Amino acid sequence: MPIRGPIRKAVIPAAGLGTRFLPATKAVPKEMLPVVDTPAIQLVVEEAVAAGLTDVLMVSGRTKRALEDHFDRVIELELALEAKGDTERLRKVQESTHLGDVHYVRQGDPKGLGHAVLVAAEHVGNEPFAVLLGDDLIDHRDPLLKQMVQVQEERGGNVIALMEVPHEQISMYGCAAIKGPPGDDGVVEITELVEKPPVDEAPSDLAIIGRYVLSPTIFEVLRTTPPGRGGEIQLTDAMAAMIGREPLHGVVFRGRRYDTGDRLDYLKTVVKLASERDDLGPQLLAWLREWLPQQG
Ligand code: G1P
Repeated sequence: MPIRGPIRKAVIPAAGLGTRFLPATKAVPKEMLPVVDTPAIQLVVEEAVAAGLTDVLMVSGRTKRALEDHFDRVIELELALEAKGDTERLRKVQESTHLGDVHYVRQGDPKGLGHAVLVAAEHVGNEPFAVLLGDDLIDHRDPLLKQMVQVQEERGGNVIALMEVPHEQISMYGCAAIKGPPGDDGVVEITELVEKPPVDEAPSDLAIIGRYVLSPTIFEVLRTTPPGRGGEIQLTDAMAAMIGREPLHGVVFRGRRYDTGDRLDYLKTVVKLASERDDLGPQLLAWLREWLPQQG
């Protein structure tokens, strides 16, 4: 039996090569690309901490150093800002250092998301834990992970975040079939999971978005999960193999989600979030209104 108690560990896979953003990602990990002025990875760690997860494990690769540096102190920069009396920037520099307890492990030979999660087995041990994928950003005003943690604590097993997507896009995601319509709380029982099904074979338009709260049994299952779609060890396949053995629930998310997985979505995310900010929004929107009509 998994150890029960408050869930406190989060795993963030961060070993992807970020090829869609080359050459920016030749020497800089894609997780460090700024969303306005904050690296995407910091927003993900902040989300984990806000959900009560204070122990964060990054599963990284060659990109480890920049990530580690970002969550560490930079004494000379702090001293320089302090000497100038620039408390606002000093606060920004120190923000990422005071987040949870961040640990690192390397994935080595990356063999898919399931493999990345398996690499976390030793650190996580025999307790439920969360997985957050950095390509999906969830708006902090629409807390999703906290609810997922509660659902796992009440019902056990695996809990995944789902979102309805346009039918033609479902083949880009893991897809879930559910029992009955979601209630007001969005919680559903999942009957089937398929990784990136062809559009005409998809059992629904409910896509897995990158938030999971998992039972530690997943490690045992991942150890024997054969490579699936794309020749990679898929987390979706391992969760599917656990159906009937442990509960599997989804939380259908109806809040704001931003995609940073490819260049166009990334640009849209940056513009959207910058336009909502007090320090940049009014000027950015005024400029966009003036500039857009000139584009024909
Ligand atoms: C991964 C998962 C997929 C999920 C997606 C969410 O795919 O394998 O099930 O829907 O994340 O972003 P990836 O986008 O890494 O190919």
